[in-house]
Amino acid sequence: MKKIILTGDRPTGRLHVGHYVGSLKRRVELQNSGEYDEIYIMIADAQALTDNFDNPEKVRKNISEVALDYMSCGLDPSKSTLFVQSYISELTELTFYYMNLVTLSRLKRNPTVKSEISMRGFNTSIPVGFFTYPISQAADITAFKATTVPVGEDQLPMIEQTREIVRSFNSTYDEVLVEPNVLLPDNQACMRLPGIDGKAKMSKSLGNCIYLSDSPEDIRKKVMSMYTDPDHIRIEDPGKLEGNTVFTYLDAFCNDEHFANHLPDYSCLAELKEHYTKGGLGDVKVKKFLYAVLMEELDPIRLRREELAKDIPAVMEILKEGSIKAREVAANTLSEVKAAMQINYFE
Ligand code: TRP
Repeated sequence: MKKIILTGDRPTGRLHVGHYVGSLKRRVELQNSGEYDEIYIMIADAQALTDNFDNPEKVRKNISEVALDYMSCGLDPSKSTLFVQSYISELTELTFYYMNLVTLSRLKRNPTVKSEISMRGFNTSIPVGFFTYPISQAADITAFKATTVPVGEDQLPMIEQTREIVRSFNSTYDEVLVEPNVLLPDNQACMRLPGIDGKAKMSKSLGNCIYLSDSPEDIRKKVMSMYTDPDHIRIEDPGKLEGNTVFTYLDAFCNDEHFANHLPDYSCLAELKEHYTKGGLGDVKVKKFLYAVLMEELDPIRLRREELAKDIPAVMEILKEGSIKAREVAANTLSEVKAAMQINYFE
């Protein structure tokens, strides 16, 4: 069986370092591993509209921003198909047929949807489109017969829902769809990188993100203002690692080579942590190191991004070509689905 990847992001803002360690970096590695037959990376604009239907400008503006973030991180349109969800109308058709296979109570149990409903204040009036987006996500995945979906852990309920739809479809009609497997980040710190304020999630509305497109000066300021251990007041004080954002970022980003290059007094992160918890190591020193590590990783990305941003029409052309190609694949799956459902009358 072919090994096929599908994943994507909602275009509601530029991508940040949480996206980078949580998924972008891994996608590039998977792309370059040569182990996959097909890779589809989708800009999920239709899904973004399920909770931003009244703000189409925001979604539109971020299509090219997200594409720039993708390509500057190393996603290569000659190896991965980059496309825009709304162009593939077959996805909407699949969604409609899958709706028959899902109950209202099953949708209500989806923990990600539940928490998003309360976060968005939809408690009293939930838009139906938003409520059913897990079904549309199942269409995204199955249209490409994806075997592997690399995502963050918050997306687990979506993959579980997809697997249920696949099993239900295949047993009700015919073996057409493929059950996908999830691929989570392997580093715990990468699973959910906190914002610079130490809050659980990086989010644009909280203003606590470091973006891939941030200037070195912005990143420096953000790192210097990062939340650490509020009880670590004097350098001699023993410091706590738990909930200490600077160390969480180091867990996500740094390797032993970074120490050799930027902080040769220590050989590895474990040594740095030991000194910090014992006392005698100031926050500023650790933050400067983190800044150097982030620069090493992010500077090449930012420079590539600036280069690519000079020609937005070329970026849009890449998305258009990818979308045309993706649409053919989805159309094939849709005809198989319709045949299995016996609604292919005129063939
Ligand atoms: N729900 C994903 C997010 O919020 C985006 C997405 C839409 C997606 N369709 C997908 C991810 C299919 C993986 C597979 O980031």
